[in-house]
Amino acid sequence: MTVAVCPGSYDPVTLGHLDIIVQASKLFDVVHVAVSKNVLKLPMFDLHTRKKLLEEAVKSSKLKNVQVDLLVGKNSLLADFCKLVKADAIVKGVRDARDFENEFAMSLLNYNLAQVETILLPAKSQNLHISSSYLKNVGINGGSVASMLPEAVCAQVTKEIEKRNFEEL
Ligand code: PNS
Repeated sequence: MTVAVCPGSYDPVTLGHLDIIVQASKLFDVVHVAVSKNVLKLPMFDLHTRKKLLEEAVKSSKLKNVQVDLLVGKNSLLADFCKLVKADAIVKGVRDARDFENEFAMSLLNYNLAQVETILLPAKSQNLHISSSYLKNVGINGGSVASMLPEAVCAQVTKEIEKRNFEEL
C-alpha cells in the first residue's frame, strides 16, 4: 500500500488544493490530507472548520482513498505525522518559482527529519492565480471568490468571508 500526505494550512481549501489532492489520490493507494497550523500565518478559519471544509470538498469529489487529519498535539510536526502513517511521500503543488523555493527547502527539512521524500506536482494553468491568501484578500474587500473555491464549500466560505467584511464596517 502506498501512502501519501498532502499537508497544508488550507485556510480555506481552494480549487488548487483540491486538484493536487485528486492527483495524489490517483497516484497513491491512501492519501492523508494533513491540516496544520502555520505559525507564520494568522488564520481566518479555525483548524476544525478547515478540516470540515476539506472533508466536504473531498466527499463531493468522491475520493474514496482520501482522509483528512489534523496535525495537532504530539503529531503536529509533519515529519512525525509522516512516520506515524508510514508515508512514502509528501505531495505538494507548486505554482511558481517562489513556491518551488519554499517547497524545496521544506522537502530537505522533512527528508532530514523523517527520511520521507517530497513529490512536487505542477499546478494546473487554470489554478495558477489561486491562493488562500489572495482569495481571502479579494473576498474581504468585496470581490467574487466563487471561481477559486470547490463548489461544495463555496457558499459556506463566501458567507464567512462576507461576515468578516461586514464586521469590519
Ligand atoms: O499551506 P501552507 O501554509 O504552505 O503549508 C505549510 C505547512 C503546513 C506544510 C508547513 O507549515 C508544515 O509542515 N507545518 C507543520 C509543522 C511542521 O512540520 N513544521 C516544520 C516544517 S515548516
